[in-house]
Amino acid sequence: MVRWRPSGATTIVSGASSGIGWEISRQLAMRGATVIAVARRGDRLQQLADSLSGAEGKIVPMAGDLTDAAFRDQIIARAGSISDGLDLLVNNAGIGGIGPFADATPDRLRRIMEVNFFAPVELTRLALPMLRSSGNAVICNVSSVLGHRGVPGKSEYCASKFAIHGWSDSLRAELARSGIQVTLVSPSTTASEFFDVAIETKESASHRRRGAMSPDRVARLAIGAIEKRRDEIVLSPGGKLLVYLDRCCPWLANRLIARFG
Ligand SMILES: NC(=O)c1ccc[n+]([C@@H]2O[C@H](COP(=O)([O-])OP(=O)(O)OC[C@H]3O[C@@H](n4cnc5c(N)ncnc54)[C@H](OP(=O)(O)O)[C@@H]3O)[C@@H](O)[C@H]2O)c1
Repeated sequence: MVRWRPSGATTIVSGASSGIGWEISRQLAMRGATVIAVARRGDRLQQLADSLSGAEGKIVPMAGDLTDAAFRDQIIARAGSISDGLDLLVNNAGIGGIGPFADATPDRLRRIMEVNFFAPVELTRLALPMLRSSGNAVICNVSSVLGHRGVPGKSEYCASKFAIHGWSDSLRAELARSGIQVTLVSPSTTASEFFDVAIETKESASHRRRGAMSPDRVARLAIGAIEKRRDEIVLSPGGKLLVYLDRCCPWLANRLIARFG
């Protein structure tokens, strides 16, 4: 299969108003893609579009809530008005939840699953006919190292990212003969607005960004994985170590995480 290329591509990126999604959108547009940039904050999406004068590609802002089925229909209709085929769908929008499961309300679990799992899965379902028309399309799901290994204090978030991980593996196999690649990207802690908006029960936000990767670097690595049509990529050395330890020696991972996690 030929390498995926941004130039001339029609793409959708969710969660484009900040952090990783902003950077993925910016870098794709700089390299010639048309990016339908999705998030709730329309003013931020417009800022992104305005910041790209001189870019080869362009940003098409689409403001709305991805958990709204009617809005998901509108995104696909907008893509259809630009091109018959969709070359890339980046399911990146996500929210976190911090604090023990026992202290949280059912609403936290429901909201996290709606945004991190049901919304991207249903957007993908709608996008599949257009992705098939592309002939060389990629679905990139931005998960997390916590979609490979659960840790305490983030149970609902881990569950949502494990769900995306399992669904991505199934979908990749189902689409293997169709020319559509499914690329799972698993970042570790990234310096974005993520922790500012997480649904918390406890803890202070101050210590959580130590050693964080920049969204710019996460975006470059993610786009590199898309271009190479990789199945999955774990971005940080610490993340790779955690995944490796969990696969090779789960009992040790369990003990270390219960003690220090
Ligand atoms: N930051 C980290 O440490 C980290 C680590 C591993 C994985 N990740 C994953 O990376 C992805 C991007 O996170 P980030 O770090 O860039 O966080 P971020 O800066 O908080 O960005 C999250 C994006 O999602 C959008 N969003 C949230 N809820 C939405 C909704 N209901 N409808 C539409 N858009 C919505 C937000 O836009 P609006 O508020 O404008 O809607 C924002 O653009 C997430 O899937 C996250 O789980 C992050």
